[in-house]
Amino acid sequence: MRKIYIVLAAVFAVSACNNSTVPVYLDPSRSVEERVADALPRLTIEEKVAMLHAQSKFSSRGVPRLGIPEVWCTDGPHGIRPEVLWDDWNQAGWTNDSCTAFPALSCLAATWDREMSLLFGRSIGEEARYRKKDVLLGPGVNICRTPLGGRTFEYMGEDPYLAGQMVVPYVKGVQENGVAACVKHFAVNNQEVRRTSTNSVVDDRTLYEIYLPAFEAAVKEGGAWAIMGSYNLWNGEFNCHNHRLLNEILKGEWGFDGVVISDWGGCRDDDQAITNGLDMEYGTWTNGLRGAPSDSYNNYHLANPYLQRLADGRAGTKELDDKASRILRLIFRTSMAPEAHYGSFNSPEHYEAARRIAAAGTVLLKNDGVLPLSIPDGGRLVVIGENAVKKMVVGGGSSNLKTKYEITPLEALQEAFPNAEVVWERGYVGNVETSYNRVSTGQDLSESRPAPQLLADALSAAEGADAVIFIGGLNKSANQDNESTDKLDITLPYGQDALIETLAAAIPELIVVNISGSPVAMPWAGKVGAVVQGWYGGSETGHALADVLTGAVNPSGKLPFTLPCSLADGPLKTERQYPGIQEEGKEWWQEYYDEGVFVGYRWYASRDIPVCFPFGHGLSYTSFEYGPAKASRSSVRCSGSFGVDEGGESVVKVSVDVRNCGGRDGAEVVQLYLSAPAGDVERPVIELKGFEKLYLEAGKSGKAVLELPRRAFARFDADAHRWVVDPGTWSILVGSSSEDIRSTTEIKVI
Ligand code: BGC
Repeated sequence: MRKIYIVLAAVFAVSACNNSTVPVYLDPSRSVEERVADALPRLTIEEKVAMLHAQSKFSSRGVPRLGIPEVWCTDGPHGIRPEVLWDDWNQAGWTNDSCTAFPALSCLAATWDREMSLLFGRSIGEEARYRKKDVLLGPGVNICRTPLGGRTFEYMGEDPYLAGQMVVPYVKGVQENGVAACVKHFAVNNQEVRRTSTNSVVDDRTLYEIYLPAFEAAVKEGGAWAIMGSYNLWNGEFNCHNHRLLNEILKGEWGFDGVVISDWGGCRDDDQAITNGLDMEYGTWTNGLRGAPSDSYNNYHLANPYLQRLADGRAGTKELDDKASRILRLIFRTSMAPEAHYGSFNSPEHYEAARRIAAAGTVLLKNDGVLPLSIPDGGRLVVIGENAVKKMVVGGGSSNLKTKYEITPLEALQEAFPNAEVVWERGYVGNVETSYNRVSTGQDLSESRPAPQLLADALSAAEGADAVIFIGGLNKSANQDNESTDKLDITLPYGQDALIETLAAAIPELIVVNISGSPVAMPWAGKVGAVVQGWYGGSETGHALADVLTGAVNPSGKLPFTLPCSLADGPLKTERQYPGIQEEGKEWWQEYYDEGVFVGYRWYASRDIPVCFPFGHGLSYTSFEYGPAKASRSSVRCSGSFGVDEGGESVVKVSVDVRNCGGRDGAEVVQLYLSAPAGDVERPVIELKGFEKLYLEAGKSGKAVLELPRRAFARFDADAHRWVVDPGTWSILVGSSSEDIRSTTEIKVI
């Protein structure tokens, strides 16, 4: 189709030389809005409707008569999905679609580095453009409300400010390539259990303070060109056509001018699909999620049912023109953009980016001086655990990828210590499955030894070793980090806790690497020599982990979510909170967000509940000394209320000097938390409102300067539908994690 566009443009260009004019919509020198305004009236009703719904699993129609191309989407969000069959989820079996797999988004969030997010966005955007994709289905920014959430690995942690800051550069980087980022899943979609039949009951304060800000940042600061509605309902209406969420908040309050795309099969109602803000319908089957004959896209809600309504007067053309305009805008921003983008695929730069990001996100949770590793030539390093060898780019649901290669931790450690003996023992058997949607890692993970033998073999291998590393954690099996199921608990599966305890009793310097995309409990943390939080790091995962373990990269990642001691410590105490309940007379499961804004560290800190490792925590092989935090003013006149679209102006600047006082170059994430004065409305005792990652050479100092806008002080007043800043003395806490506050200052809000 793109070829037709080029040919048509050329034909018109030639005729332009002959004094006839190029139609405005084909003229790349005209603005996007001029092109949309020119194209729209040229389209018939049938052509407009044809653009609003899928024609295959991942594409929708253009207007061939006018040379307007189809729209091609792809998952997202960690790499470009292999081509799937036209009307089937299985990969098509192409041999030229093995991509660079980038780290999972929880790892990106753990970098706390906006530059890394830009690098990620640019790189994946280049891969998408090369593969001729117009819409990348990602990134995801749903808040980690429960550590059980199956898709936590695809999201950016538990804090709305962190997620909001990290999503913006990603979106910009993708879109620089003429590819739309489709930010998902809008909104309050915080679990996988019954994701298509649960009504999230969330009050407006909680919605505006916790669950919307990252989406708001993606739209208002990132300028996202597309948003994906989520499967669940919010306050009684399905989110793919939720009037308040889409028409009032997204398109109204935030001025979103892009395309709202349904999650696949998330559209459920003919009339609401027309009136409630949805623009494009994609699906699993006809008629939403429910089964139906294949290849029947004309039966989609925004297909024949819409045409019938337009024909018999039940629907007017106002909504139709709005939807078609938005899709045309998307096309003029992407495949018909004035600048030609070609992208690149599997480039060395992309693999290098994947490795840098994965290393920067790796979090050193604990270190009793056993890391970085030093193994003498001729020495012996023993690696135990399935995740040292299991390739995990494959699997997990729609983020499943086919990558050109994946370096495992064991391979990377063998490479890092060529003159030592690096031995692997399995220790436990997890999941031996190695393929997903017909993408296979080609590994054989079968195992015949029983568990006691595996343990005995691990212990005997460890004897006399120079270092022993256990690499385990989760994988992307059902009920782990996986789309469409949630975890059942946060304890490690496959008997790993007992195994680690046994190993630690024999080897007190044991190094434990947990690979997961979501929080797990670490009851053994006090008994081992070091703990590292690794992630699904993509193609270069092993190299990145080895870089940190060997000290080639000084760790600088920080937790994007709390690691609680146990699930029971968290804010979700009842079934009505999670996973939801069935109520008399109600069609859908009801889930009440009774904990309100007390999510993640906001809960643990406010209720004084000890955690295993706190939000924002992460160590380095060097150490950092903080000077006093200084506010640019001692008082600020900014109390009172303001509208939902206001409050962006900076009202105070906080600066702090930080010195790298250890012997290695390293990076520190300086974090700023605000603590509100006591008042009538209960607020979390601390809330993250600023951070900056400083790269400091050994012995050198740097300054973090953190700007606080008025909105940073605000709470949402649901009755007034306005933000409110309360007067009083506010504490400004600056530190290395949410629990490691190094300097405190105050500001009087008048
Ligand atoms: C997922 C989306 C994904 C889509 C297309 C849905 O099931 O929820 O995140 O983009 O499928 O694969």
